[in-house]
Amino acid sequence: MTAAGLTTGLGGCTPDSARPGRRSPAPGATPVPVPATGRHQAGITLPQPAQRHLLAVVADLDATVAPGPLLAELGETIRTLTAGTDRRLLGLPPGDLTVTVGVGPRLVRAAGAALPGAADLPRFSRERIAPQARGGDLLLQICASDAPLLPVVAAALADQAGDRLRERWRQSAHRGAQVSVGNGLTAPRNPLGFIDGIVGPHTAAEQRRDLWLAGPPEVAGGTLAVLRRMELDLPRFAALSVAEQEAVLGRRRASGVPLSGGTAASGPALGAKTPDGRYLVPADAHVRRAHSSVVGVGLMLRRSYSVDEPAPGLFFISFQNELRTFTATLAHMETADALLPFTTTTAGATFLILPGFDRRHPLGSRLFG
Ligand code: HEM
Repeated sequence: MTAAGLTTGLGGCTPDSARPGRRSPAPGATPVPVPATGRHQAGITLPQPAQRHLLAVVADLDATVAPGPLLAELGETIRTLTAGTDRRLLGLPPGDLTVTVGVGPRLVRAAGAALPGAADLPRFSRERIAPQARGGDLLLQICASDAPLLPVVAAALADQAGDRLRERWRQSAHRGAQVSVGNGLTAPRNPLGFIDGIVGPHTAAEQRRDLWLAGPPEVAGGTLAVLRRMELDLPRFAALSVAEQEAVLGRRRASGVPLSGGTAASGPALGAKTPDGRYLVPADAHVRRAHSSVVGVGLMLRRSYSVDEPAPGLFFISFQNELRTFTATLAHMETADALLPFTTTTAGATFLILPGFDRRHPLGSRLFG
């Protein structure tokens, strides 16, 4: 089945399974188009694997602007851009272009104070976030295999919005080659050299349970995104021995296999100990501190990218149907995660990713219609 064939119409069901990296296209192959319309927006579980290039644009709406008509127009523009019929593409083939739209807490609160997505992201330790790079009203997550498309698409969407949108911050990011982790799964390496994105809600049942919002009707089929740009202290991490690096993460650097053994695709056995009683996955290892059952939360779908500007690091992106999945995980990491001292967060925001749309149900119409 092609990636395109996995997207269903409104009211359809979640793709059967969107495991990391299944159906990897051959290098140099023409990317398979990803339909913009359906029950869920593209750019979250599809395509698989995620495209190599990302541009996130975060903007504010002028206080007098009604979100409904603007979102509907943006949705229609996304449809024509991904179909390759928008003249503002300047003839560039859209390939596997996806544009995923989210609205920030201020706009969600205006639609309903109790709706998922109405809460701001709290502050955490190790943040150095300029006011401009915190939060925002609108997210445009633009992804494609073909890097030159990204600024062209951002410019087309900005042209459509005109002076109704004021850009707040933007971030370009890239992913490396997919690495096989067994069981037919692949994931890319992050700038620390480790395979990143193995654990997540990859089956349809896990996605229904932990990824997609089931309701209320205004948001059903959407999800919550958290974006955090994290600088990494690469010289200090590189100065550690490989064994020390692996103790920080809790997995083998080369293979992604948990320090408790098994295969990369198997989860860490957190109770496993050495004969002298030490945990094989150390008490402060990242995969233990961030483990969903240790924290007591659902699975988050991590779709992170590497960045080199403004400083080398990770553009952490996660999707989950409760903000608490992210906040409780990071709070649990803050008490003891050996990875955190290597990070400084320099941008951060959360967005309600709107439910999917089509011609009869414009983007944002259920929330702002
Ligand atoms: C620069 C910062 C970070 C780096 C380099 C990083 C890297 C990694 C790596 C290499 C893994 C193991 C492989 C995998 O399952 O994908 C992992 C697992 C994970 N990370 Fe991170 N991570 C970072 C920050 C975060 C943050 C901020 C969160 C959430 C608050 C998070 C949540 C998780 C979760 C939930 C897992 C799966 C743990 C498990 O169940 O085994 N990570 N991360």
